[in-house]
Amino acid sequence: MLVEETIHWLAIKPGGFYVDATVGLGGHAIEIVRRLGAGGQFVGLDRDAAALEIARARLAEFGDKVTLVHANFSQIGEVFAERRLPPADGVICAWIATPKRRQTTL
Ligand SMILES: C[S@@+](CC[C@H](N)C(=O)[O-])C[C@H]1O[C@@H](n2cnc3c(N)ncnc32)[C@H](O)[C@@H]1O
Repeated sequence: MLVEETIHWLAIKPGGFYVDATVGLGGHAIEIVRRLGAGGQFVGLDRDAAALEIARARLAEFGDKVTLVHANFSQIGEVFAERRLPPADGVICAWIATPKRRQTTL
């Protein structure tokens, strides 16, 4: 997923709430969070704990604007419910599905 196009189509509003359900190493996340302004919130999910730790380090400068959760994106409803999150202004999700993964991990 191309970062420039993603940012364009998300049309991020300052103070908004955005989610990357496959946050990976945080490349999209950084560009989103930079545009959030005061009061904005970002939640990133990833099933890969190692990737999430890298994202956590890269996003540390943004403090409590960022919440990272070790979860499969299929659990996004539970993540929202547990944290009492409001409806998001935008959600992105990008992953590479192989036939094996589709059968076993989604
Ligand atoms: C293409 S990268 C995502 C790119 C990311 N948005 C970025 O800016 O770096 C793919 C990521 O999706 C994660 N992923 C794949 N399937 C997933 C799933 N079912 N739930 C959560 N994360 C998943 C992988 O662990 C990997 O970190």
